[in-house]
Amino acid sequence: MKSILSFATAVCLWLVLVAPVYAGGNIAAGQAKAGICAGCHGPDGNGGADPAWPKLAGQDPDYIAKQLADFKSGARKDPIMSGMAAPLSATDMKNLGAYFASLKAKPGAASDALLAKQGQKIFRGGNATMGVSACMSCHGPSGHGIPPRFPKVSGQNTAYTQKQLLAFKAGNRANDSETMTRTAFRLSEQEIKAVAEYMAGLH
Ligand code: HEC
Ligand code: HEC
Repeated sequence: MKSILSFATAVCLWLVLVAPVYAGGNIAAGQAKAGICAGCHGPDGNGGADPAWPKLAGQDPDYIAKQLADFKSGARKDPIMSGMAAPLSATDMKNLGAYFASLKAKPGAASDALLAKQGQKIFRGGNATMGVSACMSCHGPSGHGIPPRFPKVSGQNTAYTQKQLLAFKAGNRANDSETMTRTAFRLSEQEIKAVAEYMAGLH
């Protein structure tokens, strides 16, 4: 009996220490709502036919829930996603976050090695002349993000990443208390291309 109890304690401890915490969302309930999302974000969350449709697999659950809330409130604007988020409750958003966070991200790849090398400099060291902080200081050295504030940016489609950085730069995406708007404002379009290319190959 004693050994069964200590085994149970060990299992509980293992669950507490090792099991991923998906910010309280329910994965199964999220999956039940995610059928419609698969058409664009992929049945495994790794994106669809159009590279402007972002990969969601392995993204931070709180970040996903926040983006859905921002699409619904209009703080982040996108004609497709505001429609998608409109019927979702706060609980649905949490559950969808838990579901997509639980999916395994497939590694992406940079297709232009020279461009990626330029991007690596910015990602790891920023641009001192322009006052751009190193991206990795918030997004982590491998771009995996630092939950719950800083999203994963590794392995993402370059077209999507570029579009977001240009939107931050222009002030069209302003749902981040200005952290990213201030950063992207100082990046040139060439630097945006380069850093997006580098991040696509990070894993
Ligand atoms: C018809 C295509 C389409 C469908 C269906 C769709 N999305 Fe999206 N989703 C997009 C596009 C396009 C974007 C990028 C918007 C932008 O450029 O800002 C996006 C962005 C997102 C983002 C932000 C990702 C990030 O990294 O910031 C989340 C989260 C998201 N979608 C979740 C969902 C969920 C959950 C569903 C299902 C309820 C869904 N989407 C259905 C096309 C779609
Ligand atoms: C001071 C912290 C900080 C730094 C430095 C930073 N970021 Fe971010 N980044 C954030 C936060 C916070 C968000 C999430 C904003 C939100 O909630 O919508 C974000 C979001 C993003 C996104 C959107 C991700 C998505 O899925 O839509 C991209 C792309 C990105 N950052 C790229 C970069 C790049 C490239 C750099 C370096 C040039 C950089 N970031 C530097 C904090 C930072």
